[in-house]
Amino acid sequence: MSAVTIEKIGQHEGREVTIRGWLYNLRESGKLLFPIFRDGTGVIQGVASQQQCPAAFAALRGLTQESSVIVTGRVQADARAPGGYELLVTAVEVVQRIPESDPYPIQLKEHGVDFLLDRRHLWVRTPRQAAILRIRAEAIRAAREYMDNQGYTLTDAPIFTPAACEGTTTLFEVQYIDDQKAYLTQSGQLYVEATAMALGKVYCFGPTFRAEKSKTRRHLTEFWMLEPEAAYAHLDDMMALAEGLVSHIVQSVLEHRRAELETLKRDTSKLACVTSPFPRISYDEAIRILEKQGNPTKWGDDFGGGEETILSSHFDRPVMIHRYPAAIKAFYMQPDSNRPELALGFDMLASEGYGEIVGGGERIADYDLLVKRLRENNLPEEAFQWYLDLRRYGSVPHAGFGLGLERTVAWICGTEHIREVIPFPRMIYRVYP
Ligand code: 4AD
Ligand code: MG
Repeated sequence: MSAVTIEKIGQHEGREVTIRGWLYNLRESGKLLFPIFRDGTGVIQGVASQQQCPAAFAALRGLTQESSVIVTGRVQADARAPGGYELLVTAVEVVQRIPESDPYPIQLKEHGVDFLLDRRHLWVRTPRQAAILRIRAEAIRAAREYMDNQGYTLTDAPIFTPAACEGTTTLFEVQYIDDQKAYLTQSGQLYVEATAMALGKVYCFGPTFRAEKSKTRRHLTEFWMLEPEAAYAHLDDMMALAEGLVSHIVQSVLEHRRAELETLKRDTSKLACVTSPFPRISYDEAIRILEKQGNPTKWGDDFGGGEETILSSHFDRPVMIHRYPAAIKAFYMQPDSNRPELALGFDMLASEGYGEIVGGGERIADYDLLVKRLRENNLPEEAFQWYLDLRRYGSVPHAGFGLGLERTVAWICGTEHIREVIPFPRMIYRVYP
């Protein structure tokens, strides 16, 4: 008999099926056992009767949590069971029995987060963690689908880079072959600017690195970023693309990962209203909102987590803030021709206080201005010669942005901390396992 998955077990109601997985929990009650099995696609409660199937009963009795099992049984609808079905167990093959002397370390009780992070390779088996990882996978699938449907071509950016993109304070330096120096990429942006001049509309989607010394709920040192870039595009084009992308991701998760959102007890009404258009406010307006709330932020200051939470609480969906002071933004940002002290950039803040999930805008297309900015920022001009070539040979206005995958998924899942939404988080004091 070929195995079925728990996720699709309802299609086999009334029939005998085999599932392959692990024993998640076991309750014993006299001549009846109530095991809970998991197979990666879901969990199902079983019933094993000593009278009806003594061999299966004997195999399960006293079996240790997370022992691997292949289980055969009849599928029965049961409104009270989680998932709506139960398995009347007829046969059990124990693939590996975990000995009592070395039990599975993660019990079905509360553990401290450091204990769990040290055992992340096992923690991912917990239904809550598995649900998060499935939502992450759906977010990635939907994001790619959206970009591809908008006519963007995937052009991957390198991980080893010769220079900084987002400031020199968060660079990871690596010893490259022989005596060469390289840095782990902070962003693929500079490279998709090059491929945009070759293909028009492009994006990259891969891991990026920041030596973030801050210990916050929102920072990883290794995170994934989706970065579109388009030739002849302007700030408004990118805000429209970003809101379309984010609403497509959220709506796809709602459509395809309902059961997982339920596992997380996520309030989905807050996600249902995440549809285009998103509100757009200028940095000036944002400052006025903060002043009205009695927040001490002054014009020219950057926003921290606290300010972002105040601003996002005014809206029922993500808000885009545009035209920040150029002085607090990256070297490559195109100034606003009406007010050159402003950059034609934008950030998107997720709702419910999850902070900035997107940052981007229009890039400097002019050679002389870009050289000036490199110098003002003390960036090594030699390492940027290839980037300056893009302004020497057929330069055009262009724009793009970066969407932080983990920030987005943490918000969709409603997790307290970003570390749960990446399979193996890398943070200030954690590179294990
Ligand atoms: O705002 P950032 O730094 O923008 C860039 O890197 C641009 N070069 C992107 C572009 O225009 N192509 O980062 C973009 C997004 C942030 O909005 C945030 O969601 C995420 O990346 N991000 C982080 N996520 C987790 N941990 C960190 N340390 C992050 N730093 C940025
Ligand atoms: Mg940013």
